[in-house]
Amino acid sequence: MVEEKFDFGNQPVSNAFLRADELREEEFFWLAVGICTSCGMVQLMQETPRTRMFHENYPYRSCSSSIMRKHFERTALHLMETELTGPGDLIVEIGCNDGVLLKAVADAGVRHLGIDASAGAVEVARAKGVRAKVEFFEESTAARLREEHGPAKVIFSANTFSHIAYIGSVLAGVDRLLADDGVFVFEDRYLGDIIAHNYFDQIYDEHFYLFSVRSVTAMAERFGFELVEAERLPVHGGSMRYKFARPGRRRVSGLDDLLEQEDRLGLTRPETFERFGANIDRIRRDLVALLRDLRAQGKTVAGYGATSRSTTVTNFCGIGPDLIPFVSDTTPEKQGRLTPGSHIPVHAPDRFAAPYPDYALLFAWNHADEILAKERRFHDAGGRWIFYVPDVHIV
Ligand code: SAM
Ligand code: TMP
Repeated sequence: MVEEKFDFGNQPVSNAFLRADELREEEFFWLAVGICTSCGMVQLMQETPRTRMFHENYPYRSCSSSIMRKHFERTALHLMETELTGPGDLIVEIGCNDGVLLKAVADAGVRHLGIDASAGAVEVARAKGVRAKVEFFEESTAARLREEHGPAKVIFSANTFSHIAYIGSVLAGVDRLLADDGVFVFEDRYLGDIIAHNYFDQIYDEHFYLFSVRSVTAMAERFGFELVEAERLPVHGGSMRYKFARPGRRRVSGLDDLLEQEDRLGLTRPETFERFGANIDRIRRDLVALLRDLRAQGKTVAGYGATSRSTTVTNFCGIGPDLIPFVSDTTPEKQGRLTPGSHIPVHAPDRFAAPYPDYALLFAWNHADEILAKERRFHDAGGRWIFYVPDVHIV
């Protein structure tokens, strides 16, 4: 049974950036998060239909962050050094997007295949020399891939497996496609960081599951795999890389410390979620009060990074163009459009500097190091960054 923990009300599709003539067709779905009382999996109470989220015009492009590009290049090299060592070994990536990881694999001449539900993203990947198919990965897809390409030594997925409500079908597919000694490696946002740092905006339609080592261990067992490794990653505000193998095929290492830390954080305890909920309410009050106060003082505030997370923030807090007249974002697919639900115009970064606003609300806080370094002139000119996690503060 999934016990509800926090209700964000009806929310628009987090990546459905709109043209001005599309406002009337905008769709909303219930967003609430709960916890499974038997396995501790934190998950959404309701699934948004997958074709509403992932389609030809899905605008997210992994390569928009240079830190993520480097991260995935390193990940690809690591997989090629440690797992893809035999001649003809195949790697399949679920949710390859614009080829951010597979480009390095393709460049090295290693057999690979990307699967992604978004034709627009796959087109970008193919232009880089990556072999990729437009499809939703699930059991039937995997069965076909196995017939066409043989077994995969590695199945990899980043920031995608947790986006798929139907994990039973995906893991049945992994079982069909994976070589006997192969591994399924996936990276996703980590529940421990979300709870520890009040990252409530990591809760949105695409993040159907918020994984922890404990819940992923139970998932592996339930679907016939074994969690053999888990590794903390600094990306996206705190992620974890998990490795599944067939039971008994690999040595299990490094899980005990992580499980102990999760127990200390109380990741399955009701009080933890009560505190998390109270923190979310406090952040909402503080952020709205600050933005209203700045407006009353005649200060200008721009948003920075039209992230999917900002959809939860602006809609849950009721922040619209009256408080933030525009959001700056480098993604061409988002520019000239309006943010979902809150209808704030998204502009290219040249607008951010012409002239600089007094304050910038950093929605892309997970890329803070990269952005604060890149925008040093804004701060030198007197501009200040507003963060809303772990609490509302200005730097
Ligand atoms: N792996 C990239 C990264 O880490 O930046 C992309 C992550 S993006 C948030 C999720 C991607 O998964 C999207 O490109 C989406 O189209 C794709 N996707 C969602 N469900 C999928 C499924 N069942 N099979 C294949 N791709 C899927
Ligand atoms: P993400 O947090 O889901 O990776 O999305 C980050 C968003 O922020 C994406 O739309 C691109 C945008 N962005 C910028 O506008 N400038 C930047 O320097 C970076 C790193 C991201």
